[in-house]
Amino acid sequence: MFKLRSYQRLWRYQYKRLSNHLSLLSDPVLRQVITKGYAVIPHYWDSARCEKARLAIDSLLSTPQVKVWRDPVNADERIMGADRLSPDLDLIQDPIINRMIERLYGSSDLAKFTLAARLSAVKGNAGSGQGWHRDSAFVYQFKAILYLSDVTQETGPFEYYKGSGNALSMLKFERDYGFSVDQNRFTDSEIEQTNLKHVQQFCANQGSLLLVNTRGLHRGKPILFGKRYALTNYYWPSKIPEHMQSFVN
Ligand SMILES: [Fe+2]
Repeated sequence: MFKLRSYQRLWRYQYKRLSNHLSLLSDPVLRQVITKGYAVIPHYWDSARCEKARLAIDSLLSTPQVKVWRDPVNADERIMGADRLSPDLDLIQDPIINRMIERLYGSSDLAKFTLAARLSAVKGNAGSGQGWHRDSAFVYQFKAILYLSDVTQETGPFEYYKGSGNALSMLKFERDYGFSVDQNRFTDSEIEQTNLKHVQQFCANQGSLLLVNTRGLHRGKPILFGKRYALTNYYWPSKIPEHMQSFVN
């Protein structure tokens, strides 16, 4: 059964965003983000630009003054605010992406930065994002992810549970599997009890851009081989969350 209080809270939140979301349905890209949770734009950057960005990430990761977040096994290395450190990593000023993201949020007043990440095939890695999660429960969060290296099944592709960022789907998860709409971390066994045919895996060439509603369930698949480089634009309607601020360059 739906829990009445979560139903009411979620519906109140959705209702405020309804007219903005209806206005996005006529746009072929934004419509996909609102309905499925993602849209893929191939060839957004060419391979020379991706290579330059990969070199910039390698260089910054070996610079002691740069603030770097690392996971417990040092597989996932993240430079928050990379746009402020190198023009080759500045995706945050991209006017096309900004226009799409601002339309999704229905606001141009957003706190933001680019995160540059290098993921390595270290034994025991949990993948980018450290397993299945929602970035926020349950407010919307939208991100732009740009692959800087070719991403295959072995190199930690982004995975997204199709439609799982939609309010109705969130309530169904609560009814059918007991996932609260406020729950943001999920174990593999919790996800395995659901219908896995909805899980989309994004294997794509370097330069591919993904626009994603990260309120939906997602993860980076654990990486088995090589390295995966990516830029991710983060946005918030108010300010950068407290727990991240000390890591931002
Ligand atoms: Fe995430």
